[in-house]
Amino acid sequence: MTKENASSDFRYNTGDTKVPWAAVGENYNAADAFEFVKFLMRGKGAAYNAALRDVKSALAKLGSLSTPPGKLSMGDKVAEVEKAIDCYLGVDEGSSLFVSNCTAALELGYRYAGVGPGDEVIVPTNTFIATVAYPLSVGAKLVFADVDPKTVNIDPKDIARKITKKTKIIVPVHIGGYPCDMDAIMRLAKKHDIVVMEDAAHGFGGEYKGRKLGTIGHFGCFSMHEVKNCTSFGEGGVFVSNVPEYRAEARRARFLGVDFSSKIKNWLYNVSLIKGKGKVRYQASNNASVTEIQAVALLQQLKRYGKILVERRREATYMTKRLSGVPGILPQALGSKDIVPTFHLYQLQIDPKVVGGDVQTLKAKLEGKGVTNIPHFGPIYRFAASVGKGFDEKKIAKTCPVTEYVFDKCYTHLPIYGLTKAQLDYMADAILASVAEMKAGK
Ligand SMILES: Cc1ncc(COP(=O)(O)O)c(C=O)c1O
Repeated sequence: MTKENASSDFRYNTGDTKVPWAAVGENYNAADAFEFVKFLMRGKGAAYNAALRDVKSALAKLGSLSTPPGKLSMGDKVAEVEKAIDCYLGVDEGSSLFVSNCTAALELGYRYAGVGPGDEVIVPTNTFIATVAYPLSVGAKLVFADVDPKTVNIDPKDIARKITKKTKIIVPVHIGGYPCDMDAIMRLAKKHDIVVMEDAAHGFGGEYKGRKLGTIGHFGCFSMHEVKNCTSFGEGGVFVSNVPEYRAEARRARFLGVDFSSKIKNWLYNVSLIKGKGKVRYQASNNASVTEIQAVALLQQLKRYGKILVERRREATYMTKRLSGVPGILPQALGSKDIVPTFHLYQLQIDPKVVGGDVQTLKAKLEGKGVTNIPHFGPIYRFAASVGKGFDEKKIAKTCPVTEYVFDKCYTHLPIYGLTKAQLDYMADAILASVAEMKAGK
């Protein structure tokens, strides 16, 4: 084995052998590539079928001239996209780790903080279950902080009230890509030596006071799932570490703690514990590896991500313009120089006292008019999974009165991307008409 190969993954890099290790067990061929094209670019009709035939013969020709990739998982493309993300986020090289999904990224941060049974974790009430899945599964105590009524993001004032000596980590979630009040959260975390992990699943590319979301806390986690603003072929996530000494550790943790830089006797690698905060040492138990194909997909999406964000902002701005100035309607806030949302979701609020009915009535009316709307998210403490773990739904609800009020009565989220002007107008007209009906007591 050459020196250069010594520390690499042994399976793929056996040096100048006459009979090399077969790195990829089975590869893909021209017929497979054709199926991918058909899957990604659907259509029907004579012109489509003719174009498809051309592609098939071109791919067959290419197949006879090409060689397959030596690696399908965790190769150069993964390294390339991580570098591109570091650059996009404006963080040190090596900060970003491309992982299987945001849920896996979140686990890396929880593991760093050493979250275990009885430890307290401060989370918002209204988030996807992924935010809290790890602490819930290990028997940690979820401490729900109430939300800011306008943004429906976690309220730092309530975090301050709920911090105790047992608090290990605070997990703000930038709901819909609208930035949380990070200065206030970081001040609290610093004062009490608590880890902050931004759940920026919706926040890729958003900014808070000139810094990208996900790069302000100790850690940031992004989702590249198919419903997000950009995707790596349907699944994917990114873990960003602002803690330099955890970067290499997290990299090893991504693949079960396997350490290719050292070996045990008569074997090709070592497996070592991952060093977290202070005395925390843990055995990685997850394999969050990603494929080269996912990396290629994400690199492509990154190239046009600026345009995607501009389009989302354009549609959100139009909707907000259409809904502004109507008493009782609070359209999505558009931000400022310091607050740059990603517009992953479009938040619509009403003031029930002015409108004469709550958002449940409005939702039913919109559905009746053919407008999809989904409020993100149902309070976590209402789920059977939380109640089953011993959380007292009623007691928690009393400590989160704003969540109870705004979720049940005030807000929902509207579709916002890839819509035509006619669809945006239809949606705005439907909202205005529904609110007018409610005001008239209909
Ligand atoms: C707020 C939030 N956090 C985490 C996740 C988990 O993302 P992933 O599906 O990539 O694991 C999601 C996914 O929708 C989410 O909305």
